[in-house]
Amino acid sequence: MNYRELGRTGFRVSGVSFGAWAIGNAWGEVNTDESLGALHRAVDLGVNFFDTADVYGDGHSERLLAQLKRERREEIIVATKAGRRLDPHVSDGYNARNLRAFVDRGLQNLQVETLDLLQLHCPPTEVYYRPDVFGALDELIHQGKIRNYGVSVQTVEEALKAIEFPNVQTVQIIFNIFRQRPADLFFAEAARKRVGILARLPLSSGMLTGKLTMSSQFATDDHRNFNRHGERFDRGETFSGVDYETGLAAVEELRALVPPGMTLTQFALRWILMFDAVTCAIPGAKRPAQVEENAASADLPALSNSTMRKVRELYERSIKPLVHQYW
Ligand SMILES: NC(=O)c1ccc[n+]([C@@H]2O[C@H](COP(=O)([O-])OP(=O)(O)OC[C@H]3O[C@@H](n4cnc5c(N)ncnc54)[C@H](OP(=O)(O)O)[C@@H]3O)[C@@H](O)[C@H]2O)c1
Repeated sequence: MNYRELGRTGFRVSGVSFGAWAIGNAWGEVNTDESLGALHRAVDLGVNFFDTADVYGDGHSERLLAQLKRERREEIIVATKAGRRLDPHVSDGYNARNLRAFVDRGLQNLQVETLDLLQLHCPPTEVYYRPDVFGALDELIHQGKIRNYGVSVQTVEEALKAIEFPNVQTVQIIFNIFRQRPADLFFAEAARKRVGILARLPLSSGMLTGKLTMSSQFATDDHRNFNRHGERFDRGETFSGVDYETGLAAVEELRALVPPGMTLTQFALRWILMFDAVTCAIPGAKRPAQVEENAASADLPALSNSTMRKVRELYERSIKPLVHQYW
């Protein structure tokens, strides 16, 4: 496993880390033993950074991480999120009182005295124009309830605005072969300010594994079924907003670019790590075998310039016109 500095936090985290949404909910049925098996396998393989949220399985994902921490002695750094418990999910809800209550619940679920990293969970854009919200987060640091804070954003514009606040240490953003806009401007700005970047949806909801077909079926409680067109939350969170058939066709073209000795999944993850500004990819995994395949990509050789150019050409031709300007 390779490790990278997480911005200015002092943490060194695994290049391939672990996204713990799928073991919480919204990805079809999950089995607790299998989820714990996946988490343990990740630690075995040197993964030391786990991304979760208070709403993943209504705290189930956080509680599984607490159990993992009890059962392992290795360093386990957890990034959690808050904000999505608000109903309605509106800017006003991001106030000192609510944030403190969410953090207290996270501390309870994770069984710790201080959160390693708290991220605002894709708040409404207006929140990035409210210094009082970031002041409330500074106060939580002062009280010792959180060690660091960052944001999880939907758009490049929100990311650029968020890092104007000097104590924002990390930005979590969708970045993968089908979502390349963050690399155009944001990465340079984040690197300049030494802000850590967590690349989410690194496999574009599983599309970039190459295992999906026109006949793939998704359970009714899997967002790849119920949010295909943005019915429940931002459509960009499911398959990166790329329509299913277009995604499948682009994946067929990508297969030809995968060097010998790696799978398409590993190619997709290794491609992300080619960008020095990225701290880590956080693939969601439900089973130990998926963790093994994902973690191994951190140690694979770099992709060639010609391969990187061909991936960009494919993006420019087939994907960019459909999605680039939305996020
Ligand atoms: N708003 C936010 O802040 C936000 C939103 C979304 C995600 N996230 C974070 O980002 C993480 C990753 O994003 P994501 O989970 O949406 O998408 P992703 O990592 O692109 O895709 C994850 C899915 O791909 C499949 N998969 C993973 N590894 C595989 C392998 N080796 N072989 C075959 N299939 C594999 C699994 O689903 P199946 O086995 O069911 O196919 C898994 O659930 C989340 O877990 C979460 O921590 C945050």
